[in-house]
Amino acid sequence: MLTLRALRATVLVYAVGAAVLLAQLLRRLRRGFREPALPAQPDRVAIVTGGTDGIGLATARRLARLGMRVVIAGNNAAKANDVVSRIREETKNEKVHFLFCDLASLRSVRKFARDFLSRGFPLHVLVNNAGVMMVPPGRTEDGFEHHFGVNFLGHFLLTHLLLGALTSAGSTGQRSRVVTVASATHYVGELDPADPQDRKSPYSAHAAYARSKLALVLFSQRLQRLLAARGDPVTANLVDPGVVDTALFRHVWWGTRAVQRALGWLLFKTPDEGAWTSVYAAAAPELEGVGGRYLYNEAETQPLGLARDVELQARLWAESCRLAGIPDGMGFGVE
Ligand SMILES: NC(=O)c1ccc[n+]([C@@H]2O[C@H](COP(=O)([O-])OP(=O)(O)OC[C@H]3O[C@@H](n4cnc5c(N)ncnc54)[C@H](OP(=O)(O)O)[C@@H]3O)[C@@H](O)[C@H]2O)c1
Repeated sequence: MLTLRALRATVLVYAVGAAVLLAQLLRRLRRGFREPALPAQPDRVAIVTGGTDGIGLATARRLARLGMRVVIAGNNAAKANDVVSRIREETKNEKVHFLFCDLASLRSVRKFARDFLSRGFPLHVLVNNAGVMMVPPGRTEDGFEHHFGVNFLGHFLLTHLLLGALTSAGSTGQRSRVVTVASATHYVGELDPADPQDRKSPYSAHAAYARSKLALVLFSQRLQRLLAARGDPVTANLVDPGVVDTALFRHVWWGTRAVQRALGWLLFKTPDEGAWTSVYAAAAPELEGVGGRYLYNEAETQPLGLARDVELQARLWAESCRLAGIPDGMGFGVE
C-alpha cells in the first residue's frame, strides 16, 4: 500500500518532471537546443559509465568524435561490444573500448578500476553517468538499496579508486574532470546522512531515485571543495540532462510511458540533446579550472540549497566511506 510519504514523493517527482517538460517545450518552440561546438581533444582519455545506452551512449559517441580515447564502463558485455563497434564505425575513432563494470557490485567496481589502471592509460575525464530509475524494491550484491547502490555508492567508490589517475593526468592548465550526472528530481530529494538508504521507511521508488540523485549532488559539491583545498588539478561538476527520451523510464507508471511514446519527440530531449551538457562539462575549454557548478542546458544553474550544506555533505561522505569500505575518507583524511 502506498504510504503518505511515498505518495508525497511520487507527486513531487511528477511535479518536477512536468515543470521540466514544460520548460523544454517552450525552449523547443522558441530557439531549440544547440549542440555545443568543441575543439578536437585526441590526447584525452575518458571513462563513461553506462555508455551502452541513452545519454551515456550519446556522450561516449560525442567524446569519441572529439578524438578522445573512450572507455565504456558497462554491465552488459554483448551490448557494450556491439556499441563499441558502432561508435568506432560512426566516428572513425578506433580508440573506443569496453571494460566490464557492474555498479551494483562494489567488487566489480574495484575490479573495473584495477583493469583500467593496469592498461596504463592516463585518465582525464570521468563521467559518472550510469543509472537506474524507479526500479522495484531490491538490493545490490552488497545489500544496498538499488538506487543508492548503483546511482550513488558505486560511483562514489569508482571516483575514489580513480582519483589518483585523474590527479596524475591533470595539470594546472588542463585539469582532469569528474562529471556527475544528476537530475532535477534531486530538488525534491530528502536524505538523512545517518540512514542514506532510508531503511526505516517502507520502500518508495520515487523517493529512492530522488534521494540517490541528491546524494550525488552532495558528493560532487564536497569533492570539488576538497580537490580545490588540496590544489589537485581536477575539477568536479554536476550536469542535469533534463527529461530525455531513453529506456530509463522502463519502470515508471504506464501513463508516463504512453506520453513518452506519443509525445516524446516534442516534449523530451533526444539522447544526443540530453548528452550535450555532459559533453560540454567534459570538454568545453571555457570550463577549464571551473568546478562546483550545476550545469543545465550548458549553463550554470543552482542546485537545491540544502546541497550546499557542508555539514550534510561531510556526514554523507563519512557514512559513504564506511559503507564502501574506504578507510581514509577518500584520501582526504577522516573527519
Ligand atoms: N532520461 C532522463 O530523462 C534523465 C533525466 C535526468 C537524469 N538522468 C540520468 O542520466 C543517466 C543516464 O540515464 P539514461 O536516461 O541514459 O538511461 P538509460 O538509457 O537506461 O541508460 C542507463 C545506462 O546505465 C547503465 N546501467 C544501469 N545499471 C547499471 C549497472 N548496475 N552497472 C553499470 N551500468 C549500469 C545501463 O546499462 P544497460 O545498457 O546494460 O542497461 C545504461 O547504459 C542516469 O544517471 C539518469 O539518472 C536521466
